[in-house]
Amino acid sequence: MAQEHFQALMLREEGKATKAQLEALTFADLPDNDTLVEVDYSTLNYKDALALTGKGKIVRTWPMVPGIDFAGTVVESRNPAYTPGTKVVLTGWSVGEKYWGGYSRFQRVKSEWLVPLPNGFTTRQAMMVGTAGFTGMLCVLALERAGVTPSSGPILVTGAAGGVGSVAVAVLSRLGYNVSALTGDPTKEAYVKELGASAVVNGPEWAESARPLESQKWSGAIDTVGSKVLARVLAEMDYNGVVAACGLAGGADLPTTVMPFILRAVKLVGVDSVMLPSKDRIPAWERLVKDLPGDVLEKITSRVVPLSEALQAAEDMLAGNLQGRVLVSVN
Ligand SMILES: NC(=O)c1ccc[n+]([C@@H]2O[C@H](COP(=O)([O-])OP(=O)(O)OC[C@H]3O[C@@H](n4cnc5c(N)ncnc54)[C@H](OP(=O)(O)O)[C@@H]3O)[C@@H](O)[C@H]2O)c1
Repeated sequence: MAQEHFQALMLREEGKATKAQLEALTFADLPDNDTLVEVDYSTLNYKDALALTGKGKIVRTWPMVPGIDFAGTVVESRNPAYTPGTKVVLTGWSVGEKYWGGYSRFQRVKSEWLVPLPNGFTTRQAMMVGTAGFTGMLCVLALERAGVTPSSGPILVTGAAGGVGSVAVAVLSRLGYNVSALTGDPTKEAYVKELGASAVVNGPEWAESARPLESQKWSGAIDTVGSKVLARVLAEMDYNGVVAACGLAGGADLPTTVMPFILRAVKLVGVDSVMLPSKDRIPAWERLVKDLPGDVLEKITSRVVPLSEALQAAEDMLAGNLQGRVLVSVN
């Protein structure tokens, strides 16, 4: 392969700080994995924002090309299943944390981390979904598996204007669920309603600690926030209600009691997209193609940024100044 130079965003550790800078790489600089992919799009996820700004301990090896997900085209592979020209998607597997990720025009990765681009999506659409949207779908599937149906009763989605929340709201409402959206920002109410939320929840009680049990409101919930918010969600669940928890945007603690579990038979289901077995990934992508219409993908994509603007977008995300998804146009 010729020693062509291409651009990547590189994170370097400088003392206790993280420095993000554009660098010119060659193919010889890339890790020795079995598959070379030309990346079309990566995205900005909450984890990427923490990595880029150095505000969370996400990066585990230095220097690091961030970007926990990407979609693109196979250039060459030692795995015969991935012939040159195959369109692929990658999410998770600690890429962008431990292994070099999607903020590079080319990346070499293990083929076992890839899934074929789902039929019905372009690489751009797959990344409009990205890790966040994929996780939103996994949360919906977790509720379905636990027996929550549209006739069970209202569903609450927290962090509803964020990447995970936006997709969860859009998919659930398309499936006929009655969705309430918790968003702390009144300027995002119109947006979550446009995605299909029938009500917006944002009372002052959400900043307070809940009692062990509150009045019953929700048959199911998807929580991206954690901490006091998840504790209140648990306290407000109906008898036999199910909560799918995937995030910690409000904190990693969980100040709750066993009361919702032992007096109301509430179920708390954890959702992880990073180490999800490969066999469970393709069905989730297929459901996204089916249940997330193209016009919704456009609505949830608030920005498309080049690599040079990814750091600014990361700061905006952590300051709560973004809604929906941010695409990173790598190529
Ligand atoms: N388990 C997994 O595999 C997995 C995968 C992807 C993401 N996640 C996690 O899921 C969470 C959401 O990710 P995302 O990509 O959707 O992030 P995001 O786009 O930044 O959205 C997070 C949303 O949470 C709400 N929020 C933020 N800070 C808050 C606070 N202090 N208190 C209450 N609400 C707060 C905001 O919603 P409003 O503006 O609507 O209030 C924000 O839009 C993150 O913690 C992320 O790490 C987990």
